Amino acid sequence: MTLADPVNCLQGKHILLGVTGSIAAYKAVSLLRALKARGAFVSVVMTAHATEFVTPLTFEVLSGERVLTDLFHMHEEMKHLHAPENADVMVIAPATANFLAKAALGLADDLLSTMLLAARCPIIVAPAMDGGMWTHPTVVEHVNRLRARGVVVLDPEEGPLASGRIAQGRLVCEEKLLDAVQSALCVHSDWEGEHVLVSAGPTQEAIDPVRFISNRSSGKMGYALAEAARARGASVVLVTGPTALARPSGVEVVSVTSAQEMADAMCQRLEWATVVIMAAAVADFCPKESASQKLKKSDRSSLVLELVPTPDILTILSAQKTKQILVGFAAETEHLLEHASRKLADKGLDAIVANDVTQQGGGFGSDQNAAVVLTRDGRRREIGLMPKRRLADEILTEIKRLKDGGCASTVIAGEEDRGNAQ
Ligand code: C5P
Repeated sequence: MTLADPVNCLQGKHILLGVTGSIAAYKAVSLLRALKARGAFVSVVMTAHATEFVTPLTFEVLSGERVLTDLFHMHEEMKHLHAPENADVMVIAPATANFLAKAALGLADDLLSTMLLAARCPIIVAPAMDGGMWTHPTVVEHVNRLRARGVVVLDPEEGPLASGRIAQGRLVCEEKLLDAVQSALCVHSDWEGEHVLVSAGPTQEAIDPVRFISNRSSGKMGYALAEAARARGASVVLVTGPTALARPSGVEVVSVTSAQEMADAMCQRLEWATVVIMAAAVADFCPKESASQKLKKSDRSSLVLELVPTPDILTILSAQKTKQILVGFAAETEHLLEHASRKLADKGLDAIVANDVTQQGGGFGSDQNAAVVLTRDGRRREIGLMPKRRLADEILTEIKRLKDGGCASTVIAGEEDRGNAQ
């Protein structure tokens, strides 16, 4: 995600720079200088293997601070200064395959991996590895796990490696690394002051006390949006249909079952909200009557259910809204953009997130998705396949841009976005 605004978000920020044992460790020296030049305070943590490539002294001289390498000999005065809880962002560059594995699994057998578990800030990981390791299924799996958790993993670049082979494995260039740090810091609290009302999951429309009509929605996209908005400083209320997901921390959760209950919960909180995102897959029809007792199959040879439309929550919210930005979702199986733009207009929305639920690797239940965000000012942003948590951040960035009066243009995700497709 490259921000159009060139403002320097690094000034005065605390960056924890982790260096692991790759030949590219020498590039972290230049990165440290670049971060310092932008006004950041940088604390360096090296793994034991990293110190075989570059001495801690090199980083110490340039950072002006003691370099941490040892889990058991942290100086008292350093502890709080370097504590990962105090860092604004943690950057691991270069990150070896070994480090990715430890990070993905939560192993904490040295200082850097332990700090990673304690970190509550955005984490950026820039892998570098030789010999085609980057495409090994184990490495791919670990990278996917980290990305699903919201860690920004920057794809290494293709080119000549230390071994002389040409392959994807070179540490991403410094400019892209700085861009990623800048983005992480700029977006970290850009939703502060916003009141975000998100709906998620399916609804269940009762046929009788034990049976219902529902759909395949897992709720993952809506939960990811709630989590991302909270992480960026917003107050968030999540109105959710029945899902198997854990409640996102720091978010007020309102559990509902039917479309009517969801409509009531959303309408009640509309006045409070500044942004409303309807990510829920609301049932379009419900049984006209729900039986008070379980229907017995012995009573009949066939069963005809009469269905009636549920309230269209977005249309109701659109009619009642005052200052709110209203965002809908369009889960489509064909004519994606055509259907989505019609919904954008018909439901009086500010933006719509269109996604093709039949596409490979995305859609209902999946941990990842691709989407096109259409906004009322004619802007179109295509976002390539990525973990739903990262997609949530991209969607929030688009909504924020619209809210803050960003310029209208057509933007197709660049190579960077496509490159992250897994
Ligand atoms: O019209 P359609 O259901 O395809 O539109 C999808 C969008 O409308 C989603 O954002 C969904 O949450 C919302 N919706 C709604 N009320 C309904 C059905 C869908 O707000 N009854």
